[in-house]
Amino acid sequence: MSKYFCVFCNKKLVIFVSEMTNIMIKPFVCGFAALAFAAMPLHAKTVSASDVIPAPSSFSTVGNDIFKIPATGLRYTIESPRSSRIEEFLITCAPRLVPAKKGEKADLRIKIGEADSESYEMTIGKKQITIKGHGEAGAFYGVQTLLQMLSEPDATEIACGKIEDSPRYGYRGLHFDVSRHFRSIDFLKKQIDAMAMLKLNNLHLHLTDAAGWRIEIPGYPRLTEYAAWRPQHTWQLWYDNGQPFCESTAPNAYGGYYTKKELKDLVEYAAARHINIVPEIEMPSHSFEVTSAYPELACGGKPTVGNDDMCIGKENMFRFLEDVFTEVIDIFPSEYIHLGGDEAGKEVWKTCPDCRQRMKDENLTDVDQLQNYAVNRIARFIAGKGRKAIGWDEILHPDLDPATAIMSWRGTKGGKEAIAQGRRVVMAPGDTCYLNNAQDAQYKEPLSQGGYLSLEMVYDFEPGTDEQLLGLQGCMWGEYVVTDEHAEYMYYPRAYAIAETGWTPASKKDYADFRCRAQQFSQVMQQRGYNTFDLSQEVGLRPESLKPVCHRARGAKVIYNTPYSPLYPAGGENALTDGQRGSWHFSDHNWQGIQGDADITVDLGKVMPVNAVMVDFMQSPKSWVHLPQWVEVALSNDGEEFNTVDTMRSETNADAPLAVTRRYATVTGVDATARYVRIRAKRHERPGGGAWLFLDEIIVN
Ligand code: ACM
Ligand code: ZN
Repeated sequence: MSKYFCVFCNKKLVIFVSEMTNIMIKPFVCGFAALAFAAMPLHAKTVSASDVIPAPSSFSTVGNDIFKIPATGLRYTIESPRSSRIEEFLITCAPRLVPAKKGEKADLRIKIGEADSESYEMTIGKKQITIKGHGEAGAFYGVQTLLQMLSEPDATEIACGKIEDSPRYGYRGLHFDVSRHFRSIDFLKKQIDAMAMLKLNNLHLHLTDAAGWRIEIPGYPRLTEYAAWRPQHTWQLWYDNGQPFCESTAPNAYGGYYTKKELKDLVEYAAARHINIVPEIEMPSHSFEVTSAYPELACGGKPTVGNDDMCIGKENMFRFLEDVFTEVIDIFPSEYIHLGGDEAGKEVWKTCPDCRQRMKDENLTDVDQLQNYAVNRIARFIAGKGRKAIGWDEILHPDLDPATAIMSWRGTKGGKEAIAQGRRVVMAPGDTCYLNNAQDAQYKEPLSQGGYLSLEMVYDFEPGTDEQLLGLQGCMWGEYVVTDEHAEYMYYPRAYAIAETGWTPASKKDYADFRCRAQQFSQVMQQRGYNTFDLSQEVGLRPESLKPVCHRARGAKVIYNTPYSPLYPAGGENALTDGQRGSWHFSDHNWQGIQGDADITVDLGKVMPVNAVMVDFMQSPKSWVHLPQWVEVALSNDGEEFNTVDTMRSETNADAPLAVTRRYATVTGVDATARYVRIRAKRHERPGGGAWLFLDEIIVN
């Protein structure tokens, strides 16, 4: 028996000596690869750079010439002025590329330049492919382009030509929330592999949040023996049960954390794939797990459910953060260190004696200045260690430390403001880059947070052209994403769109073409064990929203007996009779929001036939948007005396988690006439109140 490896999947082969002569005239393949070969098409399939995600910045083909992909894999050589890690990557991750033996002619020459550059050129000739990376990263990306072409199902040849490729932005990120649901190192490595294929180069690791602390910190054992564990498996159950933590040794403890060794290994794994890990430690808010483990860091010396803020008045809170950031900086070589800074409640600071004292001592007049004091202090601490601080756009404050960069999530406004101030910015706006939104009609999708964000909507995001703009990032918050499979489903294929926007020149982007490539690439991803959303099953935009609807009330005046919310006005006074229907997303500016019961009258201008009345409501319970308990339709000729023609009760459970739209339609009769049509809707009773009603159009026929 002898030891050989399959040239395709690198699996160890068990070969008996009696088979050796036979083997010598066949490529070394395992049973699986042999089967795959048997199933290979007899016809030739030519692939080219036009199949790749992200699309290269430029490529041209040479007539009909082709490079035939050798069935036994491509023999390569590497020419580099200094030691390169590419070979190590190829040996472990690219079984179809095999080192050329001494004297053997190479099918692939990889040349590595000395520049610190992600650019590369690839020449595909009939007999040989040459990848010339301007630097190590460029050569790596050239190899990724080639591997994607080779990985296409049934590919037998590559169109000859030339690729010249470089990224549009230096920062192309994907965010992982490992607090709400802990993910294993293996899971993260698997996603790093996918990121490398997509030329994404920054993994934002959201290591801490109220639902669990995930990094071992010397001197603070309670963070990892207590604040990293909870009795409930899902975030929702944990939240509904008062956000408790438990000892790691408790029988049902759910959670986990990463040791320093594991994180250093992860950093190394990512670096070998030209991916930087940006670690995030939340401060001064999103820190309920911290105050649960160390109550002395809370205002008043005890954690309070509903208050995620740490106490800025306490000096030991800063000592804690400095110890944490010291450890983080030791583990992660990232230029940028994320300090969170979003969504601080700030209320408790107003009455906490320690916080008030801090405000007095530092001459701070309000709690916004207090937050800014904390952010600046930590940003300067990070800068003192030779790194740069970055935080969510809430930290933008007139007195924010000038060197601090911004990650813009509440739209792009904060990012643009920061750019105007000369700051570095990463765009990650929630409405186009938050992959926790459902990617298709919510009624067919798993429970999600946010609204609707299709692949096309992600793809269409244009981050901007300012020099200060580092790039963009897709974020995926994990509250409702319990399993790894579900997480992958949310990332892919939308992460492909983030990758293409980050890499490909805007003028070269084309959604129809990208969508075809995305479907093809998902096949490759699925073969490699990723659970991707199936684009062939996509419902797409809500059909009602595709074109304006004509009806008798279109353009009619609307009288609001109860007001709509200024937060969700849609088109304001005309929204409900403008003919525009809503999409799958209640905040798309076509759905109008009312936080209370609705009482709305449409004035048709004169008495006319009213045969049917229809109105749709939206339900998105994770955003407190619920179907009404009932909808009443009443008609009147004078606007004073109304006849109720129908009261329709909701059949759908208004607590059902999935987002839906529901139509409330009534036939008023063939002879019915009216000038005024009144709609009353009773909002859902939510514990604690606050339920919203959202409707898009009152349709009268
Ligand atoms: C955020 O989504 N709160 C950054
Ligand atoms: Zn305080």
